[in-house]
Amino acid sequence: PKYWLIVPAAGIGKRMQSDVPKQYLRLDNRFVLDITLSRLLHNADFSGCMVPLSAQDHWWLDTESAADDRIQTCTGGAERADSVLSALHALDGQANDSDWVLVHDAARPCIHRDDLSNLIDTLSGHPVGGLLAAPVADTLKQAGGGVLPEVETTIDRSRLWRALTPQMFRFGQLKAALEASLTNGDPVTDESSAMEFSGNMPVLVEGRPDNLKITVPADLALAGFILSRL
Ligand code: CTP
Ligand code: MG
Repeated sequence: PKYWLIVPAAGIGKRMQSDVPKQYLRLDNRFVLDITLSRLLHNADFSGCMVPLSAQDHWWLDTESAADDRIQTCTGGAERADSVLSALHALDGQANDSDWVLVHDAARPCIHRDDLSNLIDTLSGHPVGGLLAAPVADTLKQAGGGVLPEVETTIDRSRLWRALTPQMFRFGQLKAALEASLTNGDPVTDESSAMEFSGNMPVLVEGRPDNLKITVPADLALAGFILSRL
């Protein structure tokens, strides 16, 4: 089978509180999106790459990636799942149902080449696929009500993981799962949750905990530090 890459980049980065969407902030004078795309494309063999962009996007043409003929763009949607589904539809006719699709957040530039190859090697013979994930490090408290939330219980973290990306699934199964989730109004915040709702349980592949998603302002400098040491 072939391998396709989808890098959703249609978000507005509300929590980042910046005028420019976070995928277009710069690290070491490069766009975050360019760093993410080049790290992925240099370290795995993809048949093609689709990047869903916001209908209001006016930064893409300034990126290095815009000149890379391996990369295509399409228009994303209101939620991340809509953006990924629109990219899958844009790949219809190029990809086969049994091909693999790797979906990776534009805002996750610190992806390590070893995690990428380990994900692909681990899952290539698997019927469903899976995702990079990291064990939870902190003790987890469940809060009850109240103005000052009171601890209700401490949750056993030994089986809890943080979902990272890439997430790797079969083209046909992922498209069907996302379509069903959007029709049913299931809360899907990643591709894995759509697969879970369809009854196809993904595999967790342990990845580095420093594969961070730039989310709040402090994350930008942190990502720069991590990148400088990869
Ligand atoms: N994304 C997308 N389409 C959307 C929403 C998000 O393609 N409608 C992308 C973002 O561009 C990002 C990735 O999905 O690369 C992860 O989403 P998130 O970190 O939540 O980014 P934003 O939605 O942009 O940020 P926020 O939730 O703070 O607004
Ligand atoms: Mg978001």
